[in-house]
Amino acid sequence: MSNGLLEGKKGIVFGALNEQSIAWKVAERAVEEGAQIVLTNAPIAMRMGAIKELGEKLNAPIIPADATSEEDLDKLIDAAMEHFGGKFDFMLHSIGMSINVRKGRHYTDQNYDWTMKGLDVSGMSFHKCIQAAYKKEAITEWGSILGLTYIAAQRVFPDYNDMADNKSFLESIARSFGYHYGIKNKVRINTISQSPTVTTAGSGVKGFDQFITYSEKMSPLGNASALDCANYCITMFSDLTKYVTMQNLFHDGGFSNTGVTQEVIEKFGE
Ligand SMILES: NC(=O)c1ccc[n+]([C@@H]2O[C@H](COP(=O)([O-])OP(=O)(O)OC[C@H]3O[C@@H](n4cnc5c(N)ncnc54)[C@H](O)[C@@H]3O)[C@@H](O)[C@H]2O)c1
Repeated sequence: MSNGLLEGKKGIVFGALNEQSIAWKVAERAVEEGAQIVLTNAPIAMRMGAIKELGEKLNAPIIPADATSEEDLDKLIDAAMEHFGGKFDFMLHSIGMSINVRKGRHYTDQNYDWTMKGLDVSGMSFHKCIQAAYKKEAITEWGSILGLTYIAAQRVFPDYNDMADNKSFLESIARSFGYHYGIKNKVRINTISQSPTVTTAGSGVKGFDQFITYSEKMSPLGNASALDCANYCITMFSDLTKYVTMQNLFHDGGFSNTGVTQEVIEKFGE
């Protein structure tokens, strides 16, 4: 169903890997709502093939870019502006990766080369994407930039490991750059803090299956799906949220403000 919320808007969507990806749903919903988009992902993700199907389905060009490479990002912004015939209106950063998590390295025993790589991919790349657009004046006034995050930036979830630190950094960039980009071009920058969701990145976290059930029981509305997250992103790209900036916005069925639910208490009585 379309409400034409993004009619006439243009944007870049980073991070659609497969049908489960949150970015995949955002890309589909953005086009449904009337937007024109450019898809991008790391060159290695291109080899997996699925993004090509999405590009064909949505009539969207795919421009590979490693989000840690300033050179790739510069080329991406130039190519997107050429494709759109000028500035564009929104950008989704939907990128995350920790080698320590992937290889099962404990938080107290990190391989710092991996930590640095994860920080670059998951956190600093947000700054690099925004800075590339900022320097080229690529985004229209009242444009909107989003990053995706998780509540482990505020509260401890031990198996989230160094990704918690990466997400704190990401959320801080939304505030700091949101200030500067707001002053310069009235561009807004926010992060959406999403429920645990079954995707390639999400499933890499140890004990994810039990954890997702716990989160479901601890959220008055239950866990938010990838599609619902995409719908929230669409409203944030639309003109209906023009004065929301520099925020971390929880999209988690109420998890973040729940101390405990009756259902979880009763589990302990069993
Ligand atoms: N799945 C969850 O439970 C959950 C919860 C909250 C927030 N998030 C966040 O949502 C975002 C999207 O993740 P997802 O769950 O859809 O998983 P996903 O695995 O589908 O997406 C992660 C994407 O990051 C891309 N990527 C990795 N390294 C890159 C690089 N160097 N350059 C460019 N792209 C690169 C991958 O190719 C992939 O497309 C991430 O920031 C993730 O941390 C996920």
